[in-house]
Amino acid sequence: MNPRSLSVPCTGRQLWRSAALSAAVLALFLSPSIFGVPSATAEVQAPVASRSAAPWWKQAVVYEIYPRSFQDSNGDGIGDLNGITSRLGYLQGLGVDAIWIAPMYPSPQVDFGYDISNYEAVDPQYGTLADMDRLIAEGKKLHVRIVLDMVLNHTSDKHQWFIEASSSRTDPKHDWYVWNDGIAADAPGVTDYQKRFEHDGRVPPNNWVSGFGGSAWEWVPAVHQFYYHEFYKQQPDLNWRNPAVEKAMFGAMQFWLDRGVAGFRLDAIPNLFEDPLLHNNPELGGINAQGDPNVGDTYTNNLPEVHDVIRRMRAMVAKYPGDRVLIGETYLPNTAELDKWYGGAAHNELQLPMDMLIGFHGDHDKLDADSFRQHIEEVQTLVHGSQPLIVFDNHDNVRAIDRYGDGVHDDLINKTLATTLFTTKATALMYYGEELGMHTTTPTRREDVRDPIGITGWPKQKGRDGERTPMQWTAGPQAGFSTNPQTWLPIPPSYKTVNVAVESRDPNSELNWFKQLSALRRDLPALQSGAMTMLDTDNHSVLAYVRSTGSGASVVVAMNFTATPQTVTLNLSGTGITAHSVKTLAADDDSLKTVTTLDNITLPPFASWVGSVQ
Ligand code: NOJ
Repeated sequence: MNPRSLSVPCTGRQLWRSAALSAAVLALFLSPSIFGVPSATAEVQAPVASRSAAPWWKQAVVYEIYPRSFQDSNGDGIGDLNGITSRLGYLQGLGVDAIWIAPMYPSPQVDFGYDISNYEAVDPQYGTLADMDRLIAEGKKLHVRIVLDMVLNHTSDKHQWFIEASSSRTDPKHDWYVWNDGIAADAPGVTDYQKRFEHDGRVPPNNWVSGFGGSAWEWVPAVHQFYYHEFYKQQPDLNWRNPAVEKAMFGAMQFWLDRGVAGFRLDAIPNLFEDPLLHNNPELGGINAQGDPNVGDTYTNNLPEVHDVIRRMRAMVAKYPGDRVLIGETYLPNTAELDKWYGGAAHNELQLPMDMLIGFHGDHDKLDADSFRQHIEEVQTLVHGSQPLIVFDNHDNVRAIDRYGDGVHDDLINKTLATTLFTTKATALMYYGEELGMHTTTPTRREDVRDPIGITGWPKQKGRDGERTPMQWTAGPQAGFSTNPQTWLPIPPSYKTVNVAVESRDPNSELNWFKQLSALRRDLPALQSGAMTMLDTDNHSVLAYVRSTGSGASVVVAMNFTATPQTVTLNLSGTGITAHSVKTLAADDDSLKTVTTLDNITLPPFASWVGSVQ
């Protein structure tokens, strides 16, 4: 359960709550050189920095790719694996250590891959198993690891398991999913909402609502039962209380680990279990964008049993060499809950549950120095020394530049978020296009919407197409994404100026800011492993901190979170740092490029400054 979701009203630009969402409040290869962008082999390759002995994922930059939208190699208007392979040089140049690829398995694509019909193959739309093997091998050469999305909570209703499971109550696979006989429609206490889903005189057993609209229970006449689905009805939930399910899913993970993937992003992982007693979820009042009553998710999300599964999964993955990693899609209410997903003091669950607490606050996120300071400190001190993972953007939410942006300083605000992402101790997770300042381009007509929740929720909820538009590579046709004028989602009009080719040539571009920061993070010991001390902590407008290993240069960061200039003096007394020589390493305003003292630094609106002290 994500308590924040409880207070967020349903809107067309709703923050996605995914794994923690309460159903009721889901209110949410071209030859590249043809277009002027160098191909993987032609790209100038960044030197691979020397790293400490820490596992690779501790200092990593992880880059999420939505495969439909990254690069089309065969002219069908849809991105694919060979397209990703062709762009590995770009990713390496950006300082990316690993890419997380959203699901590329065979799928009916109801939920664009999150409805998997075969866990051990590649959807022909995206290529072949041989293409995936080549991507893994080419990635290895360029030090870009491949992390796959693993959907364990549910399968597609077209998966062979479900086809068998729903054929008869006595089928050996029947118990692989969550079934219920329902209750008599005229039983006492049955609500009008339950009666909406009546079949053969039976209604769903409780008030559980699907995150994607309607009851979470779907009737199957052949077995005269309902099955549970947290998401679309085409995504039946697996029954994780059946050991055969765990065996099959761990087997699927091993299939990919054996092929050399670096780990998994675990989709909707807190949703694996539901209350066996089927208690009603709390009623919250009101109706959501899909027309369902708002209910909480106390009995359908973050149940304790999930941690036993995660501990066994961690032990299974740990048998593989090379520090394979488990990343969790963990929308959680607070840092104490987040710590449980690491395994607390035992450190035996996920290496990197996503910290959604800093980057996803609501419809209109606000740069707030106090809350950023508090949360960054918290996630570094309250997780038993585990490694934080900060994320601001993904394929389910309005892009951060639009949530945090003020419409005037969006480019600077995007740079501020990047500065936070790359200069704290956290592993950095970014989303394709974030480095360009790509904006959310929400459809303006219902008939153009591709994400089903945007069709059923229109106009209150317009779906997630806006943040999934094709990557903007060039100012040429289809932004260099595809040779096909019919791309699966339209190319946003901004592509003429917001693209890799144009931004590569502009030293002050958002792209070059991201590159500069990721290079600093890779090259400076203080940014790799230095302790962090917050500076000027009473300042409500400026977030400032120092990173120091105790020897060598320290790194000081100062960001103006407001639209008015702020003058700060950053006092290092009490930090143990006695050096005084100050040098600018990166600044997004010319006036800051000559800073030589920590006294009276004037930060222009939304400016970021990174300096060394030695
Ligand atoms: C979370 C994924 O990020 C989202 O895109 C998907 O719709 C749901 N889980 C269901 O798999």
